[in-house]
Amino acid sequence: MDRANTWIEMNLDELEENMSSVKAWLNGKKLLFVVKANGYGSGALSVSKVAEESGKVDYLGVTHVEEALELREGGISLPILVMGEAVPEQSKWIVEHDLTQTVATKEMAEALSKTAKEKNKTVKVHIKVDTGLRRYGISYEEAYQFVKEVMALENLCVEGIFTHFASAVGDEAFSRLQIKRFLSVLKQLEEANIEIPLKHVCNSEGALLYPEAHLDMVRMGNLLYGMNPYKKELPMKIVNPWKVRTKVVVLKRVEKGQTVGYGRRYKAKKDMVIGVIPVGTADGFMAKPVDTVPNFSTLTKGVGSLFAKFLGKRVDTLKVNGQAFEIIDNMSIQQTIFDATPYKDKIQIGDICEIGIRRPCANAKILRVYSRHGKEYFHYYE
Ligand SMILES: Cc1ncc(COP(=O)(O)O)c(C=O)c1O
Repeated sequence: MDRANTWIEMNLDELEENMSSVKAWLNGKKLLFVVKANGYGSGALSVSKVAEESGKVDYLGVTHVEEALELREGGISLPILVMGEAVPEQSKWIVEHDLTQTVATKEMAEALSKTAKEKNKTVKVHIKVDTGLRRYGISYEEAYQFVKEVMALENLCVEGIFTHFASAVGDEAFSRLQIKRFLSVLKQLEEANIEIPLKHVCNSEGALLYPEAHLDMVRMGNLLYGMNPYKKELPMKIVNPWKVRTKVVVLKRVEKGQTVGYGRRYKAKKDMVIGVIPVGTADGFMAKPVDTVPNFSTLTKGVGSLFAKFLGKRVDTLKVNGQAFEIIDNMSIQQTIFDATPYKDKIQIGDICEIGIRRPCANAKILRVYSRHGKEYFHYYE
């Protein structure tokens, strides 16, 4: 790549392989592909097109109405569930573009019904039940009554009902309690002969851990994008279609005792060679630096980062030619300094590095290089 020094490679054929593997594993259950947050950084429209072409995905899921509109305007016709809350004045957009809206308030359900009636259409909704996440949703204790009220509204179809885990892997006992609470709502509905076609609970981790809770559909992001949230061997083949690449753009000598980087936080203990890569915090690269000159602030941060490591929190990484390097200074918006000393004879300006960036945090401005059906093309997001 000579156009840019930093880019993200996204292999859409491999993404499609993941869709096929997961769909086969689901054994007839429906699959909702979560493409929120610009498709977890992979490009919402690009990955949605693959989903549509593949025939393996039944639904797309986003958080905001505007994310769904971008997909419709880009030509996507798969059903799209807006999983987050919308406000009544967005009803016109939801109805006009045939979006499926999550509802948990009477006001929103009424606004959708009114707009759909005016436009002589039927709007689909999924009811969000709060079983313990306490972010958005009607409490499981009130859900049965709420469903009945929403179902009575004109020009509105309750197509789905769902809940979301607070900590699918982290707290199995609580997740099982959430499933139990959700199933108790479904039982009340069943006893009243109320049929809702799409009942769903599981995200990636939940689907792996609680197959009995797949119900009618699962909602997956991480696993389809090639991340293993499970930390165990997966029951299907999943590949990682995403790689962030950058180049070494500076190599320079630093003498023992000199400080390096902003805030003079790093002091060389010996003569050394440092390197610079052209990515920083604005790109979403948050690699933790090592060995800073201790002062009160760095000490408290040091304790925090040790604690984070203890808790298993992700620390972004930098590898050149397969070799891991330590970060010295990560304070710049668009540059990061690393210690090249141990491999100074093996590293050159222009060498390509592989770096880890939390995907949804990867700046949309980083050039995306896609490959599809064996061909490469690139894309900049506005
Ligand atoms: C409501 C909802 N369902 C499903 C998912 C997918 O989660 P995951 O990426 O862990 O599969 C998300 C993403 O956070 C979500 O907000």
